[in-house]
Amino acid sequence: MADEILRTDGLTKYFGGLCAVGDVSFALSDGEIVGLIGPNGAGKTTLVNLMSGAFPPSSGTIHYNGRSVGGFKAHRLNKMGIARTFQVVRIFKTLTVLENIQASLIDRRRYGPWRLALTSLYKRAYSLDADADARQEAERLLDFVGLTDYRDELAENLPYAYTKRLEIARALATRPRLLLLDEPSAGLNPRELDDQIGIIRRINGQGVAILIIEHVMKVIMSISHRLIVLHYGKKIAEGAPEAVYRDPRVVEAYLGGDAHVAH
Ligand SMILES: Nc1ncnc2c1ncn2[C@@H]1O[C@H](COP(=O)(O)OP(=O)(O)OP(=O)(O)O)[C@@H](O)[C@H]1O
Ligand SMILES: [Mg+2]
Repeated sequence: MADEILRTDGLTKYFGGLCAVGDVSFALSDGEIVGLIGPNGAGKTTLVNLMSGAFPPSSGTIHYNGRSVGGFKAHRLNKMGIARTFQVVRIFKTLTVLENIQASLIDRRRYGPWRLALTSLYKRAYSLDADADARQEAERLLDFVGLTDYRDELAENLPYAYTKRLEIARALATRPRLLLLDEPSAGLNPRELDDQIGIIRRINGQGVAILIIEHVMKVIMSISHRLIVLHYGKKIAEGAPEAVYRDPRVVEAYLGGDAHVAH
């Protein structure tokens, strides 16, 4: 059994009176791919927001590598090896594809999060090219996600599927040990889905643990070692993908709501 990398105990987040995540306990092992599923509004993104430091929990704990990190800010957690992508892609539209990755690398190496904001505001004023190492690594990451042909394209001109890949490359630039993916396959066509599955598998093959939120069942069932299901903020099932998929509570959660389960 691989070492545990992250554990939550009784993790809870309220937004006013709404319990978005309620008493959720689970653990992730080193090198594991865990799928996080559940109907719309189940609390999946909120759980990832808590794990990545977007906001602090209302109660409960998060341990990463045995250390209590609940309430740590996103940038600190990122430096500790937790990276994420967003449900709605966040990239610098007015930078090129290569520059987007370089900005992420340079931020990791030298500067705080303010650097990213400045980069986006002043664009080339900071001469990203100056960092040759970052450039080389950016090229490697571009190749890894299959975007080499688009390296000098402005990110805003990328086809949608490729913006998802670019965001993954930007997350990888921070050298994560744990990668949190929030619906990386939403809106992709079947061919693009296969490519995406390949990329996620290769990331995992390099020893990165992955928590992936996904509505696309083809993706989640084919890559997850284990599934966790949320419903109204509660964990209602956890275990091997096939068993969870047939679990009556899970079927009921999906059928009972207006959730879309894409096949
Ligand atoms: N920042 C916020 N402020 C207030 N309410 C929020 C906030 N973020 C999420 N919520 C609410 O918390 C609940 C869980 O939302 P969340 O986005 O985590 O669900 P989800 O499982 O990711 O859904 P989806 O599949 O649609 O992305 C929802 O009722 C949502 O409206
Ligand atoms: Mg979400």
